[in-house]
Amino acid sequence: MKLKPSKREQIFPLPVALVSTVSNEGIRNAAPWSNITPILRPLEEVVLASWLKRDTLTNIRETGEFVINIPPVEMVEAVMVCSRNYPPEVDEFEMAGLKSHISEEIRAPGIEGCLAWAECTLVEEILREKFSLIIGKVVNLEVDEKFFDEEGQMDFEKAKPMSCVLGSKGLTFTCPKDSGKSADYSEMFLGGKEALSPKP
Ligand SMILES: Cc1cc2nc3c(=O)[nH]c(=O)nc-3n(C[C@H](O)[C@H](O)[C@H](O)COP(=O)(O)O)c2cc1C
Repeated sequence: MKLKPSKREQIFPLPVALVSTVSNEGIRNAAPWSNITPILRPLEEVVLASWLKRDTLTNIRETGEFVINIPPVEMVEAVMVCSRNYPPEVDEFEMAGLKSHISEEIRAPGIEGCLAWAECTLVEEILREKFSLIIGKVVNLEVDEKFFDEEGQMDFEKAKPMSCVLGSKGLTFTCPKDSGKSADYSEMFLGGKEALSPKP
């Protein structure tokens, strides 16, 4: 079976993050984001793709800051309230019943009840005709110890980080499940040594 090339988003299970920002006037904003990823491993930068008409984009441009919050799948209702196109003067935390999680390094607050908070500063914007790519640097990363061990490994069966599969009729919310299979990073390298690991 073939699909139209424009349906390419339907073949990827996507993460769902909540991106929180604050405007220059101090109005809090939160929006779900699926086009978002760390850039490679183990660096500190992330990239998100934004349509041009987004309060999130305006706030990031104005303040140079944003927080990537990872919601558990139980937060789906609040996430969908945040997806509504409220005007910029509306505090979307209030609309969705969300509480601020105080950030340490930036002014933009995170969101209580999330599993992890990546405070980011704007590094570069790559502007295209219809969308923009925002590259950010994580300047503070915090996780809820209820769902992560001392090494920062997520117990994702307990945490239920929200993800989604986009279909022709709408979104299906999912969360990852252990397949029983795993691999060491070193398996990717001949001789079992990771190229990026520090030299002895
Ligand atoms: C699950 C989900 C993922 C989304 N991902 C994106 C995205 O990656 N980029 C984007 O521009 N909009 C995305 N949206 C749409 C925005 O969240 C939505 O337009 C929101 O109202 C934007 O809010 P803002 O104008 O306050 O920034 C997504 C919506 C949902 C429900």
